[in-house]
Amino acid sequence: MMDFEQLGRTCVVGLQWGDEGKGKIVDVLLEHFDVVVRYSGGSNAGHTVVIDDQKFALHQLPSGILRKNITSIITGGAVIDPAVLLGEIESLRARDIEIDGTLHVSDRAHLVFPYHRREDQLAENAGGAGKLGTTARGIGPCYSDKMSRRFGVRICDLSRPDRLRERVRWIVAHKNAYFAALYDVREPLEADAIVDEYLAFSKQLEPFVCDTTTLLHKLLGENKRILFEGAQGNLLDVDSGTYPYVTSSNAGPGSICSTAGLPPRAVQAVVGVVKAYTTRVGGGPFPTEQDNEIGALIRERGNEYGTTTGRPRRCGWFDAVSAAYSAVTCGVDHLAVVHLDSVSGMQELKICVGYEHNGRRLDGFPADPYTLEEVQPVYATLDGWSEEIGGCRRLDELPAAARAYLDKLSECVGVPVGMVGVGPARDQTILA
Ligand code: GDP
Ligand code: IMO
Ligand code: MG
Repeated sequence: MMDFEQLGRTCVVGLQWGDEGKGKIVDVLLEHFDVVVRYSGGSNAGHTVVIDDQKFALHQLPSGILRKNITSIITGGAVIDPAVLLGEIESLRARDIEIDGTLHVSDRAHLVFPYHRREDQLAENAGGAGKLGTTARGIGPCYSDKMSRRFGVRICDLSRPDRLRERVRWIVAHKNAYFAALYDVREPLEADAIVDEYLAFSKQLEPFVCDTTTLLHKLLGENKRILFEGAQGNLLDVDSGTYPYVTSSNAGPGSICSTAGLPPRAVQAVVGVVKAYTTRVGGGPFPTEQDNEIGALIRERGNEYGTTTGRPRRCGWFDAVSAAYSAVTCGVDHLAVVHLDSVSGMQELKICVGYEHNGRRLDGFPADPYTLEEVQPVYATLDGWSEEIGGCRRLDELPAAARAYLDKLSECVGVPVGMVGVGPARDQTILA
């Protein structure tokens, strides 16, 4: 049995291509924590939390914001679109969620600007080899500008209006020239209008902005229980994932140290979230994809439509090869397997236990996306079950075939199952 009190500082991370159900698992686990930390990604994320009859979709804010007495932190590893963040804060206030005094945003976080969104959209619309199927939220351009250093603007820069104006004018001149030359864009962006808008945002953000590294070290010193909320998933990680069909940040727990300013020992346990099947939004290889009636059935039963973009998610069988790769890459101690209810009613279920390429069994998870597109999955076939399981609250209440499916999945991934999701609600969670 997974012992929450013994968990220590824990990271919740997705082991597939995002949307695994991290929001719900974070929400459930937070009963045992004091602090929640978002450390990567931006408004490309969409984390769903269902509390009683209310559904919340969070893009910029950590899921912990919905719980009372939880300190919520966004570190400098995340990128902030102030319009989205402030919009989210407003909509939560309207639903009587307390934000003031509980939310803290790093002054080191980079800002997403309108030219980032424009660049993302133009590159996607241009199609060809550069099309990735992004969320068009400006995430890639913002992280690129952060790394290039010449074009990055951080939250702390908002406190120096004159310097900010000078810098944004210079950046926007470059961006406009680039958009006109490459995409024939005739309507240049107005630097001064952008600066004025961001200075107005700055006033609204001010109460939340602080040095989150110092704050986190203070909380560590007070022995507060900290939960790190991963965004995206390991297969979308810019280093470990299916590059170039990835996002522009590191999703795994490894990036907590560098982006939150914490020592490696800060993370004591890792919960890896997977669905009982696999989904992906956007482009890129997906060996177990079922572009057929099986995929359509999973999509309907699992309600697999994107939280951020509403796009139908691509669906397929559980891929234990990529999940096992993610589990070792992220150092996962416990698996949270969600959406087990969504595969009820299927006659049989398949788990991919190996990849074959040109007749040879592959070792590990290939770096080359073309190889990954060509692999033949080797499947283990298991019996399905017909019972609806949304009301089950203990493992021994599940049909024997559902327990056998979980056992096989866990054996193939190489990590014990600690939690099972049988529905979107908080209480539809089995602790294994
Ligand atoms: P995240 O980005 O990892 O937080 O995941 P999303 O919120 O984008 O997508 C997960 C979806 O699955 C959401 O609609 C959740 O409400 C839903 N969900 C989470 N766990 C379960 C579960 O065990 N069963 C069912 N049926 N839905 C779930
Ligand atoms: P959460 O946190 C699912 C995908 C996009 C696209 C690729 C690059 O909700 O799990 P980007 O806009 O980041 O440049 O897009 O990554 N993607 C996600 N897919 N869940 C997410 O976040 C995602 N964030 C990005 O669909 O394929
Ligand atoms: Mg999501």
